[in-house]
Amino acid sequence: MNTPLRLAINGYGRIGRCFLRALHESPLKNRFRIVAINEPADLDTMAYLTRFDSTHGVFHGKVEQGEDSLVIDGQAIAVTHASTPEEVPWQALGVDLLVECSGRYGTRDQLQRFLDAGVPRLLLSHPGASAADVDATVVYGINHESLAGTERLVSNASCTTNAIVPVLDLLHRSFGVEQAFLTTLHSVMNDQPLIDGYHNSDLRRTRSAMQSFVPVSTGLAKGVERLLPELSGRVQAKAIRVPTLNVSAIDLMFQAGSDLSAEDINALMQAAAQRAPDFIAYSDQPHASVDFNHDPHSVIIDGGQTRLCGPRMANVMVWFDNEWGFANRLLDVADYWAGLVR
Ligand SMILES: NC(=O)c1ccc[n+]([C@@H]2O[C@H](COP(=O)([O-])OP(=O)(O)OC[C@H]3O[C@@H](n4cnc5c(N)ncnc54)[C@H](OP(=O)(O)O)[C@@H]3O)[C@@H](O)[C@H]2O)c1
Repeated sequence: MNTPLRLAINGYGRIGRCFLRALHESPLKNRFRIVAINEPADLDTMAYLTRFDSTHGVFHGKVEQGEDSLVIDGQAIAVTHASTPEEVPWQALGVDLLVECSGRYGTRDQLQRFLDAGVPRLLLSHPGASAADVDATVVYGINHESLAGTERLVSNASCTTNAIVPVLDLLHRSFGVEQAFLTTLHSVMNDQPLIDGYHNSDLRRTRSAMQSFVPVSTGLAKGVERLLPELSGRVQAKAIRVPTLNVSAIDLMFQAGSDLSAEDINALMQAAAQRAPDFIAYSDQPHASVDFNHDPHSVIIDGGQTRLCGPRMANVMVWFDNEWGFANRLLDVADYWAGLVR
């Protein structure tokens, strides 16, 4: 058996912690070992928030603290609190792959600092500043097999891109998508204040996350075009943060190139879920968002919500656990990519 790939996490917030948990619960567990975490917060709080999570529940393992380490089921993970990549001894820690979950490094210059500091490869939990700032952008199940193993900076795209690209890809290949409009209803994130507070660049993000639906900017249209260039210029998007802790939805309106019915769309989605059960799911039960908390799929198509307006304009609704689904895809991409270079 191969020796486990040595992983590090930079930024132990929602996605960093979900990534560690997802690995802990995953059948891929023995293929990886998390050896380091870099996070500004103190170790006591990191251990506490590993044990107790308001969204995903109590951790199913033993969480202890060593000297400058978090100890999970007896395995020590070195913890640093550096604010720059250069301050962490990545090479001495023997890190093979760093999962960048702080979201603070987007441009190639910023990301290069990790490589210069001794990190062999980075997997980003975000799209990076642009396609040109990374070596590849991957949505698992769509283009992960295009990885060659020679890349050093790979983006796992966004949670919304992971949810909607598989659906748009299927729709486009079956019916032709002439135009598509995507409205994301996204649970709150840590870049919003609990009650009104200052934000340095976005007036709307000054508003209480728990009191309002808050429209925010989104790069989803560009994210879709990066993965499906055949849809360039045909996609627009809008995002609204809603006051729930987790699980998001996308309301997709599209104009098809041929006549279609709700039954055609649902049959296509059901067949896709049967072919790719690890990341696509389909349901026609009467759902509310909380049903998908801790759901590992990239996307769950809600067949009961599929509608037609005329012969070619259709509306499809999908759900996704923006934290857990995405964290599981980080794992899948890390596993595939690592398999190419072992
Ligand atoms: N949450 C989601 O649903 C979701 C889904 C997919 C992708 N993403 C993306 O994943 C990234 C992280 O999102 P998140 O929701 O996990 O955010 P988060 O909860 O705010 O976590 C980010 C963590 O990184 C820490 N950090 C800040 N600067 C750092 C640095 N220089 N080095 C190391 N750690 C640093 C933060 O500490 P401080 O709080 O002290 O700054 C925080 O603990 C973002 O790019 C986001 O867009 C998020």
